[in-house]
Amino acid sequence: MDLLYRPRRLRTSDTLRRMVRETRVSKQSLIYPLFVIDGEGIAEEISSMEGQFRYSVDKLPLIMDQLVSAGVEKLMLFGIPAKKDACGSQAFDDQGIVQRAIRAIRDNYPSVYIVTDVCMCEYTSHGHCGILCGESVDNDKTLEYLNRIAVSHAAAGAHMVAPSDMMDGRIGSMREALDEAGFSNVPIMAYSAKYASAFYGPFRDAAGSAPSFGDRKSYQMDYHNRKEALRETDLDVSEGADIIMVKPALSYLDIIREVSDRHEVPVAAYSVSGEYAMIKAASKAGFIDEEKIICESAVSIFRAGADILITYFAMELAHYMEEGKIG
Ligand code: PBG
Repeated sequence: MDLLYRPRRLRTSDTLRRMVRETRVSKQSLIYPLFVIDGEGIAEEISSMEGQFRYSVDKLPLIMDQLVSAGVEKLMLFGIPAKKDACGSQAFDDQGIVQRAIRAIRDNYPSVYIVTDVCMCEYTSHGHCGILCGESVDNDKTLEYLNRIAVSHAAAGAHMVAPSDMMDGRIGSMREALDEAGFSNVPIMAYSAKYASAFYGPFRDAAGSAPSFGDRKSYQMDYHNRKEALRETDLDVSEGADIIMVKPALSYLDIIREVSDRHEVPVAAYSVSGEYAMIKAASKAGFIDEEKIICESAVSIFRAGADILITYFAMELAHYMEEGKIG
């Protein structure tokens, strides 16, 4: 055949394939979600997330040493308090679990960059992401509480805050509160396009944060919608978000692509607990090659346009990058 174009030419060797890769990945863009729990001497595996643990502050070195030596030096912190109440007061307590964990990590691992999840569902007795008025979450009242949480995280030493509540107007309101408290250099990573997703199931088990009644559909987005994600990200950017996020990741690659094409701010994608649990379960059953699936799915999220990936597989990915398996 007299073919002018033979795309296979560029696939003939590993060296060549690596040279022409369109997507490059780096450890620098990985964030590891970490659960910290009130109490002492705790390092317990999360049953629905094999390989992931909840740590009390004194046990943090168990995971922090591994992360630092793997070159994963960015965290997203989630707290599991001993006490919950209607307004989630442990979330903005100076001696709260996240605040204590931040100080311990900053003292002992100064190279680590700490992002905190700002939300109330792990801290409220009803498990909703805000202050209730009857059975619904009161948007504007919740904003005051979210601001207190964000400011208290920043005061404890958080480098960046990431509101995941999906209230309207929270980014503008939080920016103002942080600035007023003297934290104008603390960036906000907004969970902007956060869908009401069954993929959060294992997380709610990990954090004990399932709502005690109803669901989160009155604040998280309906997964049938695409334009709504553009509207949510537009609003967050206009209110001052420094980074915007799409969550979950794997079933939302179309949204990641559109959001990253549309905006000039960095885009993060959160590959959530259910995505992790599915890969773990299928590989345990011997149905898939775990390592290859972790690599392929992470690269696909970057290929879709994500600049940052929040993933429970951060450490594995860092090792695979080191070994030259991806990137
Ligand atoms: C808090 C929050 C959730 C997740 C991140 N922040 C749970 C939820 O919205 O119910 C999910 C993360 C995961 O599933 O890995 N609102």
